[in-house]
Amino acid sequence: PDEPLWETGRMARTFETVGVVGLGTMGAGIAEVFARSGLNVIGVEADDAALARGRGHLESSTGKVVARGRMSTQEQTALLGRISFTTSREDLAGADLVIEAIPEIMEYKRALFADLDRICKPSAVLATNTSSLSVTAIAAATSRPAQVVGMHFFNPAPVMRLVEVIGTVVIEDGLAAEVAGLARRLGKTPVTVGDRAGFVVNRLLLGYLNHACVLLESGLSSRDDIDVAMKLGLGLPMGPFTLLDLVGLDTSYEVCEVLFRESRDRRHAPAPMLRELVTAGLLGRKTGRGFYSYG
Ligand code: CAA
Repeated sequence: PDEPLWETGRMARTFETVGVVGLGTMGAGIAEVFARSGLNVIGVEADDAALARGRGHLESSTGKVVARGRMSTQEQTALLGRISFTTSREDLAGADLVIEAIPEIMEYKRALFADLDRICKPSAVLATNTSSLSVTAIAAATSRPAQVVGMHFFNPAPVMRLVEVIGTVVIEDGLAAEVAGLARRLGKTPVTVGDRAGFVVNRLLLGYLNHACVLLESGLSSRDDIDVAMKLGLGLPMGPFTLLDLVGLDTSYEVCEVLFRESRDRRHAPAPMLRELVTAGLLGRKTGRGFYSYG
């Protein structure tokens, strides 16, 4: 991946217009990151209501930055002005790169990538923000698997500085390095990782978060005390239950399931409590209640 581009015998790509499919928590955050760095963004959602929610996310997230005095209202207007909103995937025809941030369901992702393959120009790169699914399996749904890459952002995307760049056995020479370059242009630090469930961060993180649920269920300590212990004992920004609520209990559960299926490591067998909360629709911050309640 670090091979200089001149050895690959092709010109480096330029990424000026990017598409973001799915404007939920992650997609809206990713759109914000691209637009902040001066790229033109085409945000795509399934229907008008979802599109309005995505726009709302972007307005409130950038609004907070303005309220803190870190961005002027003119800059906010310019940032939002670089994002166009649409419910038509066909509008992605001219994008240099399209990144997908839809739910973690393989059939949805493969269907989307087959569609993007049909719509997008031949040179376009197709990226997935999947946190646990196989990038190779997603790539195989297209006629251009060499141009498919994982670009994994962290929640909240505008704040977290890491991007995991995931290459596959069929990725085009130099593409992972180009995507890492794009991540740097966004002000992020890229790491390159192979295509194994959970990549680096989630593979280590979910074992920990899941284990926190197991310990809570065992009665070892209370929710608040486990959170305080990990936050203050390790100097982390938040304890495991606060972080589970931020990541989303559904996402956490799904990542655990995938990790467990692939590794058969019991550390990743989803804790019953996590499953119950997800079944009850208590998904964390995004639904107003998870381990904690949010006003
Ligand atoms: N754009 C730019 N900067 C922004 C911003 C935005 N939209 N929103 C907030 N910020 C900045 C703030 O200005 C602030 O900067 P300063 O510290 O310089 O003032 C900083 O970000 C923190 O913001 P807040 O003060 O609003 O929030 P906080 O201090 O309470 O921190 C937090 C919130 C960033 C979420 C912090 O608690 C944290 O880092 N938590 C851990 C998050 C984490 O681990 N995420 C990874 C989850 S795993 C994952 O995502 C992988 C997966 O696939 C499941």
